[in-house]
This record gives sequence, structure tokens and C-alpha cells, in this order.
Amino acid sequence: MSAHLPAGRKVRYGGDYNPEQWPREVWEADHAAFDLASIDTVTLNVFSWATLQPDEDTYDFALLDAIVERAVAAGRDVVLATSTGALPPWLAHRHPEVERTDFQGRRHVYGQRHNACPSSPVYRRLSAELAGRLAERYAGTPGLVAWHVGNEYGGFDGGCWCDLCAAGFREWLRARYGTLERLNDAWNAAFWSHTFSDWEQVVPPNMLSEHWRGPDHTAFQGITLDYRRFMSDAMLANYRDEKERIRAHDATTPVTTNFMGMFRPIDYHRWAEDLDFASWDNYPPGQREHARMALAHDVMRGLKGGAPFWVMEQTPTITASRDVNPVKRPGVLRLWSWQAVAHGADAVLYFQMRQSKGACEKYHGAVLDHAGRTDTRAFREVAELGAELDALGDAVLGARTPARVALLFDWDSWWAAEMTDGFNRHARYVDTVLAYYRALWQAGAQVDVVPVTADLSRYDVVLAPMLHVLKGDVADRLEGVVARGGSVLASYWSGRADVDANAFLMDAPGPLGRLFGLRVEETDSAEPGVTNPVTLKDGAGDDAVAAASLVFEVLVPQGAEVVGTYGAEFYAGTPAVTRHRPGGHDGGEDGGEAWYVATALDDGGVAWVVRRVLGRHGLVGPYADTDDVELAVREGADGARTAFVLNHRSDAVDVAAHASGTDLLTGRAVVAGETLHLEPTDVVVLREDPPR
Ligand code: GLA
Ligand code: ZN
Repeated sequence: MSAHLPAGRKVRYGGDYNPEQWPREVWEADHAAFDLASIDTVTLNVFSWATLQPDEDTYDFALLDAIVERAVAAGRDVVLATSTGALPPWLAHRHPEVERTDFQGRRHVYGQRHNACPSSPVYRRLSAELAGRLAERYAGTPGLVAWHVGNEYGGFDGGCWCDLCAAGFREWLRARYGTLERLNDAWNAAFWSHTFSDWEQVVPPNMLSEHWRGPDHTAFQGITLDYRRFMSDAMLANYRDEKERIRAHDATTPVTTNFMGMFRPIDYHRWAEDLDFASWDNYPPGQREHARMALAHDVMRGLKGGAPFWVMEQTPTITASRDVNPVKRPGVLRLWSWQAVAHGADAVLYFQMRQSKGACEKYHGAVLDHAGRTDTRAFREVAELGAELDALGDAVLGARTPARVALLFDWDSWWAAEMTDGFNRHARYVDTVLAYYRALWQAGAQVDVVPVTADLSRYDVVLAPMLHVLKGDVADRLEGVVARGGSVLASYWSGRADVDANAFLMDAPGPLGRLFGLRVEETDSAEPGVTNPVTLKDGAGDDAVAAASLVFEVLVPQGAEVVGTYGAEFYAGTPAVTRHRPGGHDGGEDGGEAWYVATALDDGGVAWVVRRVLGRHGLVGPYADTDDVELAVREGADGARTAFVLNHRSDAVDVAAHASGTDLLTGRAVVAGETLHLEPTDVVVLREDPPR
């Protein structure tokens, strides 16, 4: 999938800037401060609909003109948003149907943001009209580098369940299934007497219909799965409405919207094609989430086939929306920003450039606080990072991640696995994916996180954690990886359901059974905290015992060899981890391997397995044994490699440099094998010498 990124000469630096909230004198001070921090790019106009269009027939661009003019005069590049992420009061007042009906079935009245009904013809008409007028007016503005449509699609409740959406859903279903017979079949409607005899009988699945307890408890997974797909597509249609109108006036400037990493309500893979480049907002849920952030960056990079993406937002200091909002410790902003660049970000932007004056984000962190000070720790760290990015210049711009490992990420599997009754509600999709990703990350493997439709032929190793839903020919393509000598690893709950979330009428793991050489006979579950010791044996004497929890599949090998066995329960002594060499044990070095992990191993157990899989392909990195030291690599089109060594530890660490080169942040020459000393949160950006 091709990407079209804004051109540039360096990693862009700046962020959301909302000067409509304060007097013009302050604008002068803002821009003077931005110069001190090497700010080159500002995102304008994210939430100004009410000002831009004071009523249905009037548009007024005077304030935005002034804001854009001032930014351009200051030499700033501009990302122009379309302002359709929050409704103006008059619109909801005049057309109440633009407000969402929530999952409980309650029609909302005016308030908040990110809550327009995606199926509302009035919303669709007026949002597209506004985007078109903005494009007409600002296309060709010097320094306009990108269009930012809407904001964080998904928003309140992740969707709408109103009558307009019900009608849209029926239309979507007709297009997908054509006949009621096929619909009834996909939904297994014979269960609980659900056979539909007219499209009009279909209603959205929410708390008034198929659900109880909440979004994850549905009587019909097929209905809810289709509704999520429909809702994701309905919001995509909103984005498309606007992009189309932008394109009518501006044929070339790249268009994007800001995603939210691993955000469950929207299948970003369904959207990826429509974005010219991917961008996302990085607000990790805790302070020690380096592996999770790395995974989210890789998910975002995977949207456009590995092309660079932008970090559209991160906070320089604190968030405001959490119950507890700790500040980023000294050095953490720098570390996380370099981590983003290391994983493929060609822009590192903030929310926000100056603190809001009032409302719920008035204490959210910003480059400039309410007083506009430039002598704060936050501003200093922002300015220092700005200077470093200046110094880096174009060294990694456009560069890609040389990954030999792919990890399959699949929204359908996420949705279906977490809304399925039975087994264990505590086993979660992202937790499972993250457990495997964390082991890859710690091992220093470069990973592409890709949709199940991706071309797998260029990878040595493919991981499929909790690949619950098997779609298309993915089973065949995984077999292909092993047939040419690669390694595949899957976990429990893979291959359980088809594209409609119906079970396969065969042994689990369905069409994957042949590849892994086994069948699942029973699936046991336990409360969190209950563990079963799994003994792992590699035949080379490096054995280990891992604690397994939550889900325990009882396997019957059909060709697979046993690597790990359960130590407790009635299935003690039976396989928990297996390896299948479909080419046979005598297949020599060329035969590939298919690993199956039937339970949730602890981190040590997952690492034990993952290291063996990577080791076979020489993919264990040089810093793998130093906890929380990350290695990420970008490779330019000319083959130039830049390695980022990131110390996420709270103590200093010495490691042996893996390559000779130049530290781009200090200009220092580094010789392979010499000691690299990394202070806590420290970063080395090593431009490796070309191989001789
Ligand atoms: C999101 C939004 C911003 C702002 C920040 C605060 O990312 O896009 O408008 O609300 O969160 O963290
Ligand atoms: Zn609706």
C-alpha cells in the first residue's frame, strides 16, 4: 500500500495550536517562544466549527485567516484541520438527529465532542461542505503541508445506535449479503429463533436488543461483529465525504486523520487505504509502557505498508483525562519522542502548544503554560529536543524498518474473541498480543505489525497471537511461510472462528490444525492468579518452568513434537507448547517450524519460546539480555542504517556497541564493541558505518 507523506527536510516538530482561545498579543509571545524551541509545524483549526460557521447559511473565516497568516508569517508549516470533530450548538439545536443515540439507546442532546451520528445526512452534508470551503480558501497557502480531517474518530461510546444508523446498517448488510438467506446463515439465525424474513426486522445490537452487561456481552456475535464493521465503515464514509471535497480544490496536499493506536472501536485496517499517511496520538496508559508504545507505533506503521507515520499528538508533561495524571519525569519526553522516531515517525507533535484557558483540558500539559513561561523544565526539555531534531536533519526521513518478523494484528479477532461467551473473559486480545510483542521487543527483533491480508513472503518469522478469526487464505499463507523454511507461532484461541465468527465444523484450531500438527480437545479456564507450571525443554539442556494461567487448551498432537508440558490438573504431563516440522524431522535445516502455545505463559515462558523461534533465524538482537534497553533500526532507500539504542531503565547501563558508526546526537565516533554508557532515559542514535 503506497503512502504519500508531506515533503520535508527534517523530522517535523510542533503540535496542536488553538490561539482562538486567547488575545492576539499572546500570539506574538507564542511565536517568539516557538522559535526558541525549533517548532516548525502547527496544527490549526481542530475545534472551530462554531466560529467558522455561526449559522447554517453563514461562513466566517476572518479569525482563521488571521491565525493562519500569523503562523505563515512566522515561517511555520501548517497542518489544517477541518473542525468537524465537535458540533456547534446551533446545529444540534436545529437538527437534533445529528446527536448520537448511545449504546443504552438514549438519544443525546448537545454537549461534548466526537459524538455526531455518522449516518446523519445533515452532519454528512454540512461537514463535507465545511471541509470543501476550507480547502477552497486555504489550498495553496504557503506552508500548508497536510489536511487533518475530523479528530480521533470513534469518540463517545465508539458509535451510534439511532434509527438513521439502523437504516444504514440494513443497507450495509444488503450490500454484504445480498439475500436474507445468506444473512441468516452468517448469523446462525436458527439459534434462538432469529431467522429474519424482512430486512426491516434487523435492529442495531445494543442494550435494548442483543446485549446485556455491556458491549462485550452479546447473544449474537455475528450481529455485533457486523455492526462494528458497519460503524467503522460509517465513520470512514464521513472521512471520505470530507476528503473528497478537499480533493476538489486541492489535488495534492496529503490528507490524514489522527488515530489512537490500538483503539478497539475502529478497524484502522479498513481505513488505511483512504489515508495518504498514518498519524496517531500517543497517550500511554502508564509510565512504564515502552513495549506497548513500540507496539502501537508498529501497528500504525503497518497501516501504510511500513511507510513512515506521524505522531500527531503527545503531551509534553501531563494528560488531564486520567484519574491520576503524573508528569513525565526528566528525560522521558525525549526518550519517548526518540522511540517514536526509531519506530518510523517522521513528525513528533504535541497536544498542545499552549494550555487552554478553560474547560476540561485547562490543566492538560502544554509546551507553554498559562503564564507562557519559557523557563520551565517542560519548555527547556521541549526546546532541547527541538534542537536535537534540527541537528538530526533529514538523516532518517522516509527510512523504513528492516523487519524479518511479522506479527498479525486483526480487529475482527480482537472483537470476536472479546465478545465471545465461554472460556475466560480475563484473557484479552491486546494483552496477549503485547505479551508476544514484548518478548520480540526485548530481544531486539525488528517487527512489522501487519493485517492478515499482508504479503508474508518477505518474513522469516510470523507470529499470530490469538488469531481467533481466520479469514481468506491466511491459513494457506502461514503454511507457505513454513514451507519455505520460516517459522510461525500461534497461541491459544487461534483458528476458532470463521469470518462470521461462527465455529468451524472441525477440530480446533480449524484450518490451522494441519500446519501446527495438532488438535485441541478441551479448553480449560481458571481465575486470574491460578497457575499451572509448564516445563519447557529444548533438548539442549536449557530447560525452564513457566507459570501458565487463564486458558489451558488440552492438545492432541498429530505430528507436532512436545516442547512444554503442563505440571498440574488432570492434563498434567500433556503438551502445552508444541513444535511441528511439517517437512519432517529429517527435513534438514531448510524445513520450517510451526510453534503452538496452548496457554497464557508468563513473560519468562513467552520469552523462552520467542527466543528459540528468533534464534533459528539469527534474529536475537545484541542487547537482548539487558532488560529494557531497546534497539530499533531504520534503513534508508540507499541502505544507510540508523540504529536507536534507548535506555528505558531507571538506572544507567553499559552495553557493548553492536556496530561502528557515528552518534548523530553528539557527533562522536563509535567503534563496534566499545562500551556505550547510557544514563537513565538516555538515547544513542547511531548512524552505522556501511559494511566493508
Ligand atoms: C486527544 C485529542 C485532543 C486532546 C487530547 C488531550 O488526543 O485529539 O484534542 O483532547 O486528546 O490528551
Ligand atoms: Zn446514528
